[in-house]
Amino acid sequence: MPPKLLAPSVLAGDWWNIGKQIEETIKGGADLLHFDVMDGHFVPNITAGYELLSHIKRRTDIPIDAHLMIQEPDRYIPKFVSAGASWVSVHIENNPHIHRTIELIKQHGAKAGVAINPGTPLYLLEEVIHYADFILLMSVNPGFSGQSFIPRSLERLRKLKRMRDELNPDCLIQIDGGIKEENVREVVRAGADVVVVGSGIFGAKNIREKTERIKKLILSEVSV
Ligand code: DX5
Ligand code: ZN
Repeated sequence: MPPKLLAPSVLAGDWWNIGKQIEETIKGGADLLHFDVMDGHFVPNITAGYELLSHIKRRTDIPIDAHLMIQEPDRYIPKFVSAGASWVSVHIENNPHIHRTIELIKQHGAKAGVAINPGTPLYLLEEVIHYADFILLMSVNPGFSGQSFIPRSLERLRKLKRMRDELNPDCLIQIDGGIKEENVREVVRAGADVVVVGSGIFGAKNIREKTERIKKLILSEVSV
């Protein structure tokens, strides 16, 4: 059985207090930190880059998962890995050489993930799933935290899980966007192994308790 992991998404945090908030999620049982990278081209928003990531990495041992929502990811992958990202995902939509990109991520020693937007058909993953360490299924359109979960994502999760079980049982399924305490069990039941939670954790008064509660729910649920 694949592990069930919780990845708080730091984009949703309060950047004035981000160090303390990250520590709270770790005390609450976070397994990895999800770090969203946006370039204002692939998505209509700009966030942080590898230098900021390296500052976080210097202060904590938790693995960092860099979700690259950028054009020309190959140019930056080595920098993100040497800054401390041990999981790196890139989007399938803007990449005609996705196999090469996956190999590049692996050569640098990180787990390689392929991210897919809500409007992109899952059959595009049929080849690449053989090589990927994880698939990141977007359940909102990438660009912002705090958006609502797109309900059809549950059906997509089930379908992706069937594809994964058949083609590459070692590949993990990560879900990202609009996950809260209220719907986390549903996404795990539908097939998610790694759950990204942004505003659902960082929007809470008590971040540590919220992380603990969501982690417990993830571990209590089994995918069917
Ligand atoms: C959206 C990002 C997500 C986002 C999740 O483009 O990829 O990781 O930060 O935030 P919530 O959980 O608030 O939707
Ligand atoms: Zn993300």
